[in-house]
Amino acid sequence: MSAHLTVVDHPLIQHKLTLMRDRNTPSAVFRQLLREISLLLAYEALHDLPLTTKPIETPVAPMEAPILQGKKLVLVSILRAGNGLLEGVLELVPSARVGFIGLYRDPETLQPVEYYKKLPEGMPERTAVVVDPMLATGNSVCAALDRIKETGARDIRFMSLLAAPEGVAAMKARHPDVPVFTAAVDERLNDHGYIVPGLGDAGDRMYGTK
Ligand code: URA
Repeated sequence: MSAHLTVVDHPLIQHKLTLMRDRNTPSAVFRQLLREISLLLAYEALHDLPLTTKPIETPVAPMEAPILQGKKLVLVSILRAGNGLLEGVLELVPSARVGFIGLYRDPETLQPVEYYKKLPEGMPERTAVVVDPMLATGNSVCAALDRIKETGARDIRFMSLLAAPEGVAAMKARHPDVPVFTAAVDERLNDHGYIVPGLGDAGDRMYGTK
């Protein structure tokens, strides 16, 4: 199995992430940067997808050409901020199926409460990529992964933009079989469950709701 945590610290990602962290970056630019980073993260998170071959004819010669093997991928967005990462990954894998899990964080207990779930059929045979930009306490992601595993899904990866050490530890303890891909691991969480230095509330930054 691949490493549990992969920090994709490509210079382009780090540069774009700095722009995203800046409180003066407007929502439209924030969304665009998130989309761009999601392409680069997905490139890494999907590097080991299995391939098969099929016979084709180029204008010059016949060949056995590589194509992706197996059922179509499923991308699972944890609402609502997950949709920011989803857009870019869908561009890279346009035939992927898409699922959604809606969880909000109770501001007092910081525990996730589910309000929506829709996943495609055939989950046990699909590679699933779960996306949420902020791995903070890890409570939401771990709860979403519990729901996803109930469907029989086995090959699951998690993609986030930013992580806190607490979230990475929670993932490792509760879902050690799910590799985590992120652009950076920050210092810590504050008392409100925000990542420090972080970038604030990803959903609010994306949609201008604050
Ligand atoms: N969710 C966010 O949007 N930001 C954080 O810093 C933590 C959780």
